Amino acid sequence: MDEKKLEALMGGLIGHMNGAMVCLSMWLGDELGFYREMAGTGPRTADGLASKTGCNRRLVREWLDSQAAAKLVTYDPAADTYELGPEAALALADDTSPVFVSRAMCAMGAMYIDFPKVVAAFRGNGALSWGDHHPCLFSGTEWFFRTGYRAYLTTQWIPSLTGVEEKLESGATVADVGCGHGASTVVMAGAYPRSRFHGFDFHPPSIETSKVRASEAGVSDRTTFEVASATSYPGKYDLICFFDCLHDMGDPTGAARHARERLAPGGTVLLVEPFAHDDRAHNLEANPMASLLYTASSCVCTPNSLSQDVGLGLGAQAGEARLRKVFEDAGFGHFRRAAETPMNLILEARLE
Ligand SMILES: C[S@@+](CC[C@H](N)C(=O)[O-])C[C@H]1O[C@@H](n2cnc3c(N)ncnc32)[C@H](O)[C@@H]1O
Repeated sequence: MDEKKLEALMGGLIGHMNGAMVCLSMWLGDELGFYREMAGTGPRTADGLASKTGCNRRLVREWLDSQAAAKLVTYDPAADTYELGPEAALALADDTSPVFVSRAMCAMGAMYIDFPKVVAAFRGNGALSWGDHHPCLFSGTEWFFRTGYRAYLTTQWIPSLTGVEEKLESGATVADVGCGHGASTVVMAGAYPRSRFHGFDFHPPSIETSKVRASEAGVSDRTTFEVASATSYPGKYDLICFFDCLHDMGDPTGAARHARERLAPGGTVLLVEPFAHDDRAHNLEANPMASLLYTASSCVCTPNSLSQDVGLGLGAQAGEARLRKVFEDAGFGHFRRAAETPMNLILEARLE
């Protein structure tokens, strides 16, 4: 037994345990409006924040201390006040900012709430369908990915594809497969008013929420949302998108094959998947999101895939080489990495 290794291990474990509780604390801060109330308002007393948000004074003081300990707010002992700095306000209070994260924490909450179902999947055939999770998963996923879509989708990802931006600007037909709450559909519809966007998802409550999101964003005139699986939606499209969902599907090759059949001549598939390196050992070592994504994959993505026909279980850390193989097997002759962010691989597939 190596004392030094044990010490390092325990230090890492303390970090993991703190992280788990700080995620919960961030979820509270967003849900109860603490971050929004503190943003841009300088130093605040605990009692002042409690009375402004209508929350219990004693609990708010405890929450503020958890935030200060996590270095998300600063504490001034002389004045006994807490302050949310401008950088933290961007990440925690401003849901239009390109780094907003706090509202996504409820996705992690869902995995804790669904613990008995996840345990049963591990002990059984591995299957747990997306729709059998707590609804926090659906809204948390929306917010987890929405920030990146708003920041990059129409500014970097679509421009990185060959000839696609021009088509969308002049008027194209687009399918957003596995659209969830329609975060990506709404962003694209806002940027390309001459195009038409059709969101499909096999989860009926998500499709209902998508329609609400499109209406809130004022893009209902150019969007439709329908319940359909990735291997059954109708229509012909200039662009077919899969945003952070192909790996969740039981039959990714079947979904890619169906996309091939649904592409209009000269059409493109935009595949956005969680960032991963191809080599497992390299990914474990070098991908800062790997522990989060492998955990989500083992509790949500892979069980959903195993609950469907074929049940490939690609996993949320498939990486470019395995994704390329899916598209080659489906008959696509062209597959390339068009862009990447620390969170996502942006891949382009075309028939020629
Ligand atoms: C991780 S979520 C991503 C949702 C959305 N694209 C986003 O980025 O916010 C995966 C989505 O894939 C959907 N899904 C899973 N399997 C599917 C299938 N076989 N056909 C259609 N949708 C599917 C789920 O219902 C869920 O909405």
